[in-house]
Amino acid sequence: MPIPVILDCDPGHDDAFNILLAAAHPAIELLAITTVAGNQTLEKTTLNARRVCAVAGIRGVPIAAGRERPLHGPIRVAENIHGTSGLDGPGFGESEPEVPQDPRDALTVMRETLLASPAPVTLVPTGPLTNIAVLLLAHPELASRIERIVLMGGSTERGNTTPAAEFNILCDPEAADIVFRSGLPVTMFGLNATHQVRATPEVVARIAGLGTPLSGLCVDLLTYFASTYREVYGFDAPPLHDPLTVAHLINPSLVSLVRAAVTVELTGTHTRGATVVDLHGVTGRPAVTEVGMEVDTDGFWELIVEAVRVLGSR
Ligand code: RIB
Ligand code: CA
Repeated sequence: MPIPVILDCDPGHDDAFNILLAAAHPAIELLAITTVAGNQTLEKTTLNARRVCAVAGIRGVPIAAGRERPLHGPIRVAENIHGTSGLDGPGFGESEPEVPQDPRDALTVMRETLLASPAPVTLVPTGPLTNIAVLLLAHPELASRIERIVLMGGSTERGNTTPAAEFNILCDPEAADIVFRSGLPVTMFGLNATHQVRATPEVVARIAGLGTPLSGLCVDLLTYFASTYREVYGFDAPPLHDPLTVAHLINPSLVSLVRAAVTVELTGTHTRGATVVDLHGVTGRPAVTEVGMEVDTDGFWELIVEAVRVLGSR
C-alpha cells in the first residue's frame, strides 16, 4: 500500500525535488502540500510550490499556505542560497501558475487530510517546523492519525547557518523542540546525512540527458543551486537535502539509522537552534529519535533521476 504523506515545505530548490519524488513514486500517496516561511517568505514558498506542481504536471494535490513567521524570534530567509524568488535559476515567467492555491490554510488542510485518511499519515516537513508544531498544539487529538514525522533538519555535527545550528531548526527552535518532544515517532535527516548527496556534474548530466522540458528545468535549478553553494560554502556540488526524507520512505535501507536522544538548544548565546544528538547515550535521556547516518548515494540518485524521467515523460 502506498504511504500517505503530507509534505510541509519551503521551496526552495531541494524541497522542489522532494515534491517531484513524492509525486512520481508509486510507493508514496501525496495527499497534500503545505508551505511555511523559510528559504523565502511564505508568499514566495507557496508560489514556488504551485510553480513546481504546474511544470511537473502534478494535479489534484492541495497546496495550502501555513505560518508566515516562527513561533518566536525573527523571520529568517536563505536568499543567499535560493535567490530572490526562492527558486532562482529557471525562468518561470510572471504569469500565475495554473495550479491554484487552496483557499484553506495549512492547519485546516492538515487537519482535514488527517481526518479523511483511512490510514495514519506520515508528515514530511522539510522547512522550519512551525506548521507541524501548530498542528500538534492545536489538535492533540489528531496525534493518533499521524504515523510518524520524517524531517530534514538539524545535524549530528555542525550547523550551516550558525556554526551550531542548521537553517530549518534555527528558523524556529521552539517549534522544533515541540516536535522532537511530541512523543510521536520522529526520524531526522540532518546535514551529517544530507551533505552526502551532492548533485555532482555527473548527476546533472544524467538529468540533462533525459531531454525533456522538466529535466531542463531541473538542470537550471541544480545549476543555480550549485553556484550559490560554491559561493557561500565552497562546495564542489550542492547537497540535495530534502529528498532524503521521501527517499527513506520509499527505500528504508537507503540510509542507515541510529536511535538517539535529540534535544534542541533554545537558550544558548552562540548555540540556539542546535540539535544536540546524544549518539553515545551519555545524557541518560531516552533515545527515541531515529537519526539518519550513512547514505547509499547511488540508490538515492537513481530515485531522483527516475522521478524526473517519469514526470517528464507524462
Ligand atoms: O539546511 C538545509 C535546509 O534548509 C533545507 O531544507 C533547505 O531547503 C532549507 O529549508
Ligand atoms: Ca527546505
